[in-house]
Amino acid sequence: MNILAFESSCDETSASVVCREGERFIVKSNIIASQVDTHRLYGGVVPEIASRAHIEAISSITYEALQTAEVTMEDIDAVAVTANPGLIGALLVGVNFAKALALANGKPLVAVDHIKGHIATCYLDEDGNVPTPPFIALTVSGGHTGIYLVESYSKVRLVGSTRDDAIGESFDKIGRIIGIPYPAGKGFDSLSAEGFYEAVGECDDYLAKYKKSADYKSGEFTLPSPAVKDDTLDFSFSGLKTAAINLLHRYEQLGIELPRAKFAARYTFEAVEAVAKKMDAAIDRYGVSEIALCGGVAANSHLRHRLSALAKKKGVKLYTPPIALCGDNGAMIGAQGYYEYMEGHFADSSLNASAQDGID
Ligand code: KG4
Ligand code: ZN
Repeated sequence: MNILAFESSCDETSASVVCREGERFIVKSNIIASQVDTHRLYGGVVPEIASRAHIEAISSITYEALQTAEVTMEDIDAVAVTANPGLIGALLVGVNFAKALALANGKPLVAVDHIKGHIATCYLDEDGNVPTPPFIALTVSGGHTGIYLVESYSKVRLVGSTRDDAIGESFDKIGRIIGIPYPAGKGFDSLSAEGFYEAVGECDDYLAKYKKSADYKSGEFTLPSPAVKDDTLDFSFSGLKTAAINLLHRYEQLGIELPRAKFAARYTFEAVEAVAKKMDAAIDRYGVSEIALCGGVAANSHLRHRLSALAKKKGVKLYTPPIALCGDNGAMIGAQGYYEYMEGHFADSSLNASAQDGID
């Protein structure tokens, strides 16, 4: 069965053909037109520009996705599209395009939640190394930070979330202040690696060692933890971000050059420890034996390292998508679209996009 899937919720236009063969998915094509270079000029995503760029890209990437997959619309069994959450103008481009395509070709239409799509990245492994619900998924991206209990392939429950900023957004904002071009996540990751290396050298358990290092104990970059100190699984990244901004201002006012790598390492350490701490609690609370890490920030090498250490300690299995599939892409929407299709969750031509989260 072939699904043609679309993703246009933020600054990537993507079309993909995902095929379900037996118990596995095969990604026949996954074309992504990134707008990052355009938005970089403004230091962040400009919604109106994003919508226009989606309109310009969507026809040609659809053609390319079908061609690369060596299929035509006749071979497509269903059309899937991200309908929420995201930038409303951006979502509307994908939703209207998918609606028209499905209607004109007489194909069923399936609406997909973007967050469920990120989680579904974990089902795309062609060797069948995939989690089976129930499991816990940590979804971290530029717009979201949440812990989800995946009860079934189509039923996902939010059990912990950020009360303000998303982790990716916080990396992007702080990164921008210290001179890393948008989106700053990847550059922040590399800069932090230098900072960890300066603190403890090359070693397998560098994050555990970092906490005992002179750099950490010096108090130079003391920052608050984003883990909310109660028995919820929630976070708050705005306190960490504000403390970091104040600290950066202090350096500027005193005219002292910022040790950027040391600062980035400490910031990353606090962010990563906070999510690891709440994931530790979530594993205990829900008694799961499998966990997943998804979303754009799942590409972060330190977060991957920390969650893999956590999984080992707790005796659970961790699933992380390949880096290329962590960011927004159509293939993840195709995978989730397949499960929605199997549940009979079809949309019709009244489908509308929504900026809001659809998960309880
Ligand atoms: O999932 P995604 O592509 O878009 C949203 O749904 O938001 O995530 C984009 C986010 C950006 O904030 C970007 O800076 C971040 O993912 N990101 C990273 C890394 N690579 C991308 N953050 C930390 N470390 C990385 N290696
Ligand atoms: Zn995303």
